Amino acid sequence: MLAARPMMAAAQPMGGVLKASVADMRLLPAEYPETRIWGIGGTMPGTEIRVKKGGSVQVTLDNELPQPTSIHWHGIKIDNAMDGVSGLTQAAVPTGQTFDYDFVTPDAGTYWYHAHNRSYEQVARGLYGALIVEEADPLDIDREEVLILDDWLLDPETGQINGDFESTHAKSHAGRIGNFIGTNGTADLTLPAQKNERLRLRIINAANARLFELRLEGLEGWTVALDGMPLDTPQAITDAIILGPAQRADLIVDVVADSGKTARLVRIDRREAFSQVTFDVNGQASLARRGPPAALPPNDHQIVDLASARRVSLFMEGGAMGGLKSATYNDEILSFRELVEAGQFWSFNGVVGGIDGAPLTQVARGESVRLSIYNNTSFPHAMHLHGMHFHEVMEDGSLGPLRDTSLIFGGEVRDVAFVADNPGNWLFHCHMLSHAASGMMTRVVVT
Ligand code: C2O
Ligand code: CU
Repeated sequence: MLAARPMMAAAQPMGGVLKASVADMRLLPAEYPETRIWGIGGTMPGTEIRVKKGGSVQVTLDNELPQPTSIHWHGIKIDNAMDGVSGLTQAAVPTGQTFDYDFVTPDAGTYWYHAHNRSYEQVARGLYGALIVEEADPLDIDREEVLILDDWLLDPETGQINGDFESTHAKSHAGRIGNFIGTNGTADLTLPAQKNERLRLRIINAANARLFELRLEGLEGWTVALDGMPLDTPQAITDAIILGPAQRADLIVDVVADSGKTARLVRIDRREAFSQVTFDVNGQASLARRGPPAALPPNDHQIVDLASARRVSLFMEGGAMGGLKSATYNDEILSFRELVEAGQFWSFNGVVGGIDGAPLTQVARGESVRLSIYNNTSFPHAMHLHGMHFHEVMEDGSLGPLRDTSLIFGGEVRDVAFVADNPGNWLFHCHMLSHAASGMMTRVVVT
């Protein structure tokens, strides 16, 4: 069963068919036609997959799209063969054919899945959904909401998805940024709420390239997990929460707005505030708020040994206003002008990366790795490692939160550290999907 209720037994695998197909859906007001999307289960977001920690997912992808596709289970510590990367861990599934995915979900948390063939087009067309791995025991909350944020680039005349997926501007600048922003496929998602209600918000940034800067209004709460992984202690939310593409945040929030008022998840865009999600507050769930929430139960992970960690550096260069002179592309040194002609704009350690390029590093299973990422470009990049979470290393040298995607601003240096405990061929790339398609892709091989 897909999208089964939370009560499903842990031992039971989640199964079924995920049909990837073309569908029409109403994104814009009635004066526009419906928008043609590509969706899993014919919807955008696609069918929600929900399973218990330690459970398993057994689904058949049935590709009815006009293009080959595959599904990547973002953030799951998965068997490499099930990682869903077309051209690396499997062949893309041709139109009319199927592929069986069968994997265990060892860690509780908020994950997502998305197409991983021509991702810069297929994710923009709507091929993604939530993958929720529930904790063994229910939390002390009243309810939860899965909020998938996205921006679509729509033609303002026709209301259809802009088909210029190979845009030079998107590749060389900040990526494909949409002009229509929503949550769960709706422009201003409105949800009912009650005063003093405690909600868990599972927020997923599914956009191709947009950073979401979010604030709370009429809600007060804590960040309890990032990229699926629980924080050691819940962090009171006092500031904006910034989510790069593919990043997630789990919040526990209390509705503090009075009955008859509205509470909001607010999006800040160039210093202006917009409503991303509206909560219509009606009635009161209880007389008083609960106390601060407990931390989520931790997922198992090995401890990184920073002292003995293998050091690896990644220098990111290129893009507009980047000053890249030349880089190696398909074993040839090309000038920036030649790269531009080939539709390539970025390099990692002097090499324009792709799915089958040389690995950034090859390490033995169990080794600790400390990776220093130098963003020597003018744009932010959201670097995602498949198959394993890493710690961001804090300024004082301590290990910060576990993440699977790290947002690194132009000019910034970020160290991440992890135990390479999952054998395989793991993609490591920018989740600004136009950047990944134009050079920002490499691999980490764990033997
Ligand atoms: Cu979420 Cu390689 O991707
Ligand atoms: Cu990037």
